[in-house]
Amino acid sequence: MSDITVIGSNMIDMMTYLERMPVEGETVSAPEFELGYGGKGANQAVAASKLGSKVTLITMVGHDNFGKEQLENFQNVGIDTRCIGVGNQNSGVAPIFVDPSSDNRIIVVKGANNELTPQILDDFEEQIKNSKLIVLQQEIPLETNYHAIDLAVKHNVPVLLNPAPANDDLDIEHVSKVDFFAPNETELSTLTGMPTSNLEEIKQAAHVLIDRGVGNIIVTIGSKGALWVDKDHEEVIPGKHVEAVDTTGAGDSFIGSFSHYYTEGEDVAEALRHANQYAAVTVTRKGTQKSYPTAKELEQTLNKIV
Ligand code: RIB
Ligand code: NA
Repeated sequence: MSDITVIGSNMIDMMTYLERMPVEGETVSAPEFELGYGGKGANQAVAASKLGSKVTLITMVGHDNFGKEQLENFQNVGIDTRCIGVGNQNSGVAPIFVDPSSDNRIIVVKGANNELTPQILDDFEEQIKNSKLIVLQQEIPLETNYHAIDLAVKHNVPVLLNPAPANDDLDIEHVSKVDFFAPNETELSTLTGMPTSNLEEIKQAAHVLIDRGVGNIIVTIGSKGALWVDKDHEEVIPGKHVEAVDTTGAGDSFIGSFSHYYTEGEDVAEALRHANQYAAVTVTRKGTQKSYPTAKELEQTLNKIV
């Protein structure tokens, strides 16, 4: 049985590196294009697996060649693929545009990810029950996430919910049952309806959720790092400053690596410090999953860049 079960999406990332974004009606030619493995759920699972965690991914690939390639990729990085299904439609894809300042714009076409229904999880209740942590994002149906939370709560298994991309419909009742809620500023504001434009406002919004029952709030605040709030304490875990080349999937590398360090037994602050380091390395490299280092690569790279 795996320590970490990630329930979520997989996508093929269509990475286009541009000199500048086109304006409406304009065609620009771009110097570079690459296909890569992505999708928030898969990214988080791959980060944890590359660091050495035993990870199971519950996801739906498409019935096309991309689906076969996804499965192969998961096997290559050591993920347990026994809970992966093949849907009746194309694989999820994500056209992504990255400009020289490393800013990105992403379009997500969920495809087979929409077929990951709540009922499918019932087949994997044993897997959920025997996990140390369940990790969720928001590129699969919300109902599936709610069912995952209910199953985990039933078996006393902690849940980490990363509410990305933001969804106005996310219901606070379910959020209140998770042990770790890990939004960025925008996602926190979407859920609470409160402003989150500075640290004070972010703390206030986080406390509203703590009062509702959430165990820990981890707000990623870009290169500034992460704010951790629980019932009786608040702490900013500073980020590492590095020269960013491509920030696509950096947030996922942070969540996946945090899940690894935390389930390995580190306390929350320590796991967050290590997750900040891991994410910092990924932004210095192009691509999503392919920019995620293994434990060994991480050690070698850290000496050089941070
Ligand atoms: O968070 C980054 C990810 O968002 C990309 O890999 C893309 O597939 C989208 O899901
Ligand atoms: Na990257």
